Amino acid sequence: MQDQNEQKPAEHFHEYDGIIELDNNLPTWWLWLFFLTIIFGALYYLHYEIAGGLTLKDELAIHMAELEKQKSEHEAAAPAETEDALLAAFDKIDANMGAAVFTSKCAACHGQALQGLIGPNLTDHFWIHGKGTRMDIVKVIREGAPEKGMPPWGTSLKREELYATAKYIMSKLDSKPTGAKPPQGEEVK
Ligand code: HEC
Repeated sequence: MQDQNEQKPAEHFHEYDGIIELDNNLPTWWLWLFFLTIIFGALYYLHYEIAGGLTLKDELAIHMAELEKQKSEHEAAAPAETEDALLAAFDKIDANMGAAVFTSKCAACHGQALQGLIGPNLTDHFWIHGKGTRMDIVKVIREGAPEKGMPPWGTSLKREELYATAKYIMSKLDSKPTGAKPPQGEEVK
């Protein structure tokens, strides 16, 4: 203890009941870090609480609004589908492309021969959604019936793929696959 008393300047420690408490200066780098956090805190408070700076939530809301706007513009630009327009489009499209899409994306639920598994049989005259017209089939594939387990495919399929898949399904009407699932929905005569 004596030794330490001699080595240290008096203001950097004090002794109490034989316990020496050092009181070294804080390292400069540490102090600066501390000051910087205070400065950061003040700027943060000024920016977000006083100046009304945009929070992440505000930015998200702005971006979502932009997306909505783009989406409605896009929808407005796309020609409204009609049975006739679809008929013309289906004429040009290759149902084999639809067969490939069906095998990779739809067969797991509707069966390789469209006979129905989790999803309904697509070869009969019974339809849950619409009456089995081009429009109806394109619509249900595009929008799905998510609450009933049919995913929407509008964003993951290209328009031609969507049409080709619908055309493929229509080409399989009355194909009477083995193991066909019992009819679901309304019969369309
Ligand atoms: C995860 C399972 C699943 C996948 C994958 C799936 N479907 Fe479906 N699909 C369903 C279910 C379940 C229904 C019935 C929905 C209902 O009850 O409203 C359905 C309904 C349909 C209908 C309407 C049938 C009717 O009777 O109205 C069509 C058409 C259809 N799916 C086509 C497709 C196509 C094309 C694909 C692939 C691009 C596909 N589905 C992928 C589960 C699936």
